[in-house]
Amino acid sequence: MGKGFFISKAVGIAAIIVGAGALATIIALSVVYSQEKAKNNDNVLPTDGGTTSKPPVTTTAPSNEPWDKYRLPKSLVPDHYNVTLWPRLKQNLTTGLFIFTGQSTVEFVCAEETDLILIHSNKLNYTKRENNHLASLTSLGGVKAPSIKSSWLQQVTQYLVLQLDGKLMKDHRYHLHTDFTGELADDLGGFYRSEYMEDGVKKVVATTQMQPTDARKAFPCFDEPAMKAIFHITLIHDLGTVALSNGEEKGYNVNIEGHDVQKTVFQPTEKMSTYLLAFIVSDFSFINNTIDGVLIRIFARTPAIAAGQGDYALNKTGPILKFFEKYYNSSYPLPKSDQIALPDFNAGAMENWGLITYRETALLYDETFSSNSNKQRIATIIAHELAHMWFGNLVTLRWWNDLWLNEGFASYVEYLGAHEAEPEWNVKDLIVLSDVHRVFAVDALASSHPLSSKEEDIQKPAQISELFDAISYSKGASVLRMLSDFLTEKVFTMGLRTYLAEFAFGNAGYTDLWSHLQMAVDATGTDIPETVSNIMNTWVLQMGFPVVTVNTSTGIISQKHFLLDPDSEVTTPSIYNYEWIVPIKWMKTETIQHPKWLKNESVTIDEMKVSGSDWVLANINVVGYYRVNYDQGNWERLLGVLSTNHVAIPVINRAQLVDDAFNLARAKIISTVLALRTTKYLNKEREYMPWESAVGNLDFFYLMFDRSEVYGPMQDYLRNQVTPLFTHYKSLTDNWKNVPVGHMDQYNQVNAISLACRTGLRECQNLTNQWFNQWMETKLNPIHPNLRSTVYCNAIAAGGAKEWEFAWSQFKNASIAIEADKLRYALACTKQPWLLNRYLEYTLDPNMIRKQDATSTIVYIANNVIGQSLAWDFVRARWSYIFTQYGGGSFSFSNLVNGVTERFSTEYELQQLKQFKEDNAEVGFGSGTLAVDQSIERTIANIKWIAENKQNVLDWFKCISNSWDWEY
Ligand SMILES: *[C@@H]1O[C@H](CO)[C@@H](O)[C@H](O)[C@H]1NC(C)=O
Ligand SMILES: *[C@@H]1O[C@H](CO)[C@@H](O)[C@H](O)[C@H]1NC(C)=O
Ligand SMILES: *[C@@H]1O[C@H](CO)[C@@H](O)[C@H](O)[C@H]1NC(C)=O
Ligand SMILES: [Zn+2]
Repeated sequence: MGKGFFISKAVGIAAIIVGAGALATIIALSVVYSQEKAKNNDNVLPTDGGTTSKPPVTTTAPSNEPWDKYRLPKSLVPDHYNVTLWPRLKQNLTTGLFIFTGQSTVEFVCAEETDLILIHSNKLNYTKRENNHLASLTSLGGVKAPSIKSSWLQQVTQYLVLQLDGKLMKDHRYHLHTDFTGELADDLGGFYRSEYMEDGVKKVVATTQMQPTDARKAFPCFDEPAMKAIFHITLIHDLGTVALSNGEEKGYNVNIEGHDVQKTVFQPTEKMSTYLLAFIVSDFSFINNTIDGVLIRIFARTPAIAAGQGDYALNKTGPILKFFEKYYNSSYPLPKSDQIALPDFNAGAMENWGLITYRETALLYDETFSSNSNKQRIATIIAHELAHMWFGNLVTLRWWNDLWLNEGFASYVEYLGAHEAEPEWNVKDLIVLSDVHRVFAVDALASSHPLSSKEEDIQKPAQISELFDAISYSKGASVLRMLSDFLTEKVFTMGLRTYLAEFAFGNAGYTDLWSHLQMAVDATGTDIPETVSNIMNTWVLQMGFPVVTVNTSTGIISQKHFLLDPDSEVTTPSIYNYEWIVPIKWMKTETIQHPKWLKNESVTIDEMKVSGSDWVLANINVVGYYRVNYDQGNWERLLGVLSTNHVAIPVINRAQLVDDAFNLARAKIISTVLALRTTKYLNKEREYMPWESAVGNLDFFYLMFDRSEVYGPMQDYLRNQVTPLFTHYKSLTDNWKNVPVGHMDQYNQVNAISLACRTGLRECQNLTNQWFNQWMETKLNPIHPNLRSTVYCNAIAAGGAKEWEFAWSQFKNASIAIEADKLRYALACTKQPWLLNRYLEYTLDPNMIRKQDATSTIVYIANNVIGQSLAWDFVRARWSYIFTQYGGGSFSFSNLVNGVTERFSTEYELQQLKQFKEDNAEVGFGSGTLAVDQSIERTIANIKWIAENKQNVLDWFKCISNSWDWEY
């Protein structure tokens, strides 16, 4: 699946201004995961459509019948399905429901004799067939099929169960027929509906999201990834609408039951997994082109296509597809590649084979509204999904416990694909900020988990959904990037290609990939200290990562499990004792050295012993998944290089030094003052990555100190640091008239303006106010899309009701989701408590703020230092209302709880939080249960951190400000 969390991953902007540090990152990630999870909550709708002869229920010991197990038995193997679905896009006024009806026939082969048929089915009502049963069975090849003895729906495990009065025979083929009805709900899972307004008319789209376990909500199927089959799909739909599915379509007009409708028959699919199916009926428009015989189409709402918002995606898809064909050495196996932007979509995107679905903001680009970060998000998501067409779709993992390999792989090569589409961007470097540093924050907790899970631990849909997390995506991407680096890209792709060739149209596990990479290693004589499997197992089978300490006075290199909270207790043992086989790329005083390996707790490497002015820098370009610490002497020399000649250190490593130092300080391995000193050279830094790294880490300082006496001196320091950057951009853009050419420069311009305005640089504030006023007066927006989030936010913060109302009306009238999102964020920046309170009220009125945006809006408000306590009071006061009205669905309680308590760092707040937990024990916290405890734990940690660091930090900022004339 695409990353829903690309929303927050979209580099910079929101994160910078809102002040979303590492913690906010975790929170942002959890939004998506809990949305994912919400999809898999146990049934709410009754699904019992004519139960017949249910077996007697034993209430004592838990039954161990096959239908009580979550995994299918191996006795039946599907060959192909013929499925016809008819979604009704009009509400039935009697029942109030939107429904779909369907018929399905599945041909399966009996692999082991059995008298039981289990097939997945969830929330479907069946029309009774022969002898009052929910399905009927026929056999092929002359023999008579046994008759059905009893049939029922097993809700918990989501099966249609058929008990037969005789055995199905090994190697014989059978047909199972069903007629069923399902609800086309607005629940974003299975076959569901999405609604939007066009020219004042409400429109309905029927669409699907099957991954991981919702195909069974559209039709009865063997819904496991290894149960690959061929699908013959037919959709019945109203005249004037378009039906799409995985295969190429062919439409006929027919009359069914007195309705003039269209029947669209699709070419049979390749042999594929159920979770990759898609069915869509809409009245969308499309644009298309053809590349080497493959038809490429982009579908979206008609006005969006008319406005050219699909053009960017269309232009980039062909080249990216071609890139992956070369990369995998395997041609795209389908005749067409459709991509469609949906108004309501839970994840970022979904790699359905031949029909990829996206959120609108992940596919539609508009020159006048989209920023370069919006554009990057589109290019990388397209690359991510196209990468899955082979890795995931052509070769599929055997079971969900290996999900990390599927998602980690796509999350790594999406950068390669995006680089192909936009070679000028240097987008590959950004994996360090967006994935490596980001997931370090999560993986440094004692409560993290290994990449790989045991198959038996991943059974229930909820357990499967839980795997769609930062560890699977970002850590997966990080360790695969490390692997590709130490093997070299050539050896990595060699193994990858034979792996894909061997398992095409089938299933594999991660050990199969290791075997193929090992073959490539052996064939090329690549020098690695252990087998691919031995090296990678240390990264895959245990959680966390090491901090590698390089002692340049002794030459001793050692490793230790890095824990953000040194007092936390690791209760899960590891067979590797929390030691890793670590590839060490390093440089000594501007010269790259031959790479080394750290295989045990420590090793002495004489070349790393340096003296005089020499320095050592390890983990060049952060290709390794670990943090680095040094002896004090080497830290001092590195700080010296930063202050005198920072370009001697590669730009990615400048970002690394800042991020490692701040995190080592959080873990009490080095002092907070040493971490702060890595930011001193920033007044000479012009590059985006180090700035972004610093801004991200300083956000924690803002959260902890923006209500205390540290705030003033901190603001003085940071203003002084950012002013040269602000001035640099002013001249680079000829007094803000032009857009910087470089992609990274465009990002850093946002940092310059955000931080300058945030730290109160008058010139910056005047600039943003002037732009915003011009917009209000002329109704023509002069603000470049790259700068809109930050400019809107700063102008609304500086302004009053007039500015706010203007932005609100722009928000309500925005015709593109990308612009509406920027405004919705900025509206939370006002300093007027009454406006913030009113905005909070709006979040619970779906006519004002869409349900899917309620949580993030409340969290934006809480991120505003003035909105913090208002949002907390609001959430506390309405908890039971929020909980009952928004329970389930996509409302993320964990995001909400974490978000509104992020700044908590006093005893008083801790007491309030505990009280809140107690007061609402009866109502409950749903998906926010863990978040309440995490918030309490985090508040305690913050109180401790402030007690230990406040004075030092205050002294340092003061001392720095008093000696403006720094040594350099
Ligand atoms: C609405 O649902 C009722 C009850 O299922 C059914 O009898 C009726 O035919 C439906 N109406 C339409 C217009 O489909
Ligand atoms: C499905 O449809 C195809 C094409 O019409 C047909 O050849 C096949 O026998 C059907 N299979 C089943 C199980 O009905
Ligand atoms: C399925 O049956 C249940 C119980 O009769 C009913 O409440 C529900 O509305 C039905 N669903 C559909 C889509 O018809
Ligand atoms: Zn994916």
